[in-house]
Amino acid sequence: MNSAAASERIRTLADCVVKGLPAADVGTDHGYAAITLLRSGLVPKVILTDINEGPLLRAKRSLQACGMDASEDAELRLGPGLCPLAAGEAASVIIAGMGGELIRDILAEDPGKTASFSRFVLQPRTRSGALRRWLFDSGFAVTDERLAMENGRICEIIVAEPGKGPVPGQDGGAVPFEITFMMEKDPLFADHLERYIGRLRKIAGSLCRSASPEAAGELENVRERLRAAEDRRARL
Ligand SMILES: C[S@@+](CC[C@H](N)C(=O)[O-])C[C@H]1O[C@@H](n2cnc3c(N)ncnc32)[C@H](O)[C@@H]1O
Repeated sequence: MNSAAASERIRTLADCVVKGLPAADVGTDHGYAAITLLRSGLVPKVILTDINEGPLLRAKRSLQACGMDASEDAELRLGPGLCPLAAGEAASVIIAGMGGELIRDILAEDPGKTASFSRFVLQPRTRSGALRRWLFDSGFAVTDERLAMENGRICEIIVAEPGKGPVPGQDGGAVPFEITFMMEKDPLFADHLERYIGRLRKIAGSLCRSASPEAAGELENVRERLRAAEDRRARL
């Protein structure tokens, strides 16, 4: 396994699953999260799935490179979202490295099947706020949030359990659904908040230069989030 395989992000994903029970890695690509789980002995079995054949082949090669050929304990399956999985056959499902809206669509496709898994470990690359809002509206409990650095980028990891209802404070934080209470305990929080403020400032700058009437409404929304995030930073 190369250095990306052992990245802080991959280790954090592995750390968030239910220990001792089978897991699935949906959209596995290189298979690093699954391999980390198997190598550490955290779970007895991982099902590695991907919508595309090329990534599944990559996962197979990664397994082989680690002396772990595809087997009953490391099953490779082709297909979209949760389709390759039977209801409830894994306790935890990792869905990482995709856009927040794609992750949301995967979870929303078959609510009965989604509810059959105990825990989802989600790492949206974009639109994490939209995903958190959907989890809140759809009766998931977000039980943990982690931040992890990979290649200079801070990744958000959301641990969510279906059917357990939102937990107190799940919707709140400096900026609801974006900068949440649960991530405040993380050592990377100050850095994450600073970067978030930087992104909002950039967006506000380009909206200021736009002449469209929609931009004015959006600018007000961005400024409000910026004020809330800056207030939170002042209290660090
Ligand atoms: C950027 S890679 C992420 C790989 C790995 N999960 C990670 O976090 O490092 C995204 C992978 O998701 C797969 N993918 C995209 N849409 C998918 C879907 N609807 N169902 C399953 N896999 C999907 C892609 O083929 C690709 O291999």
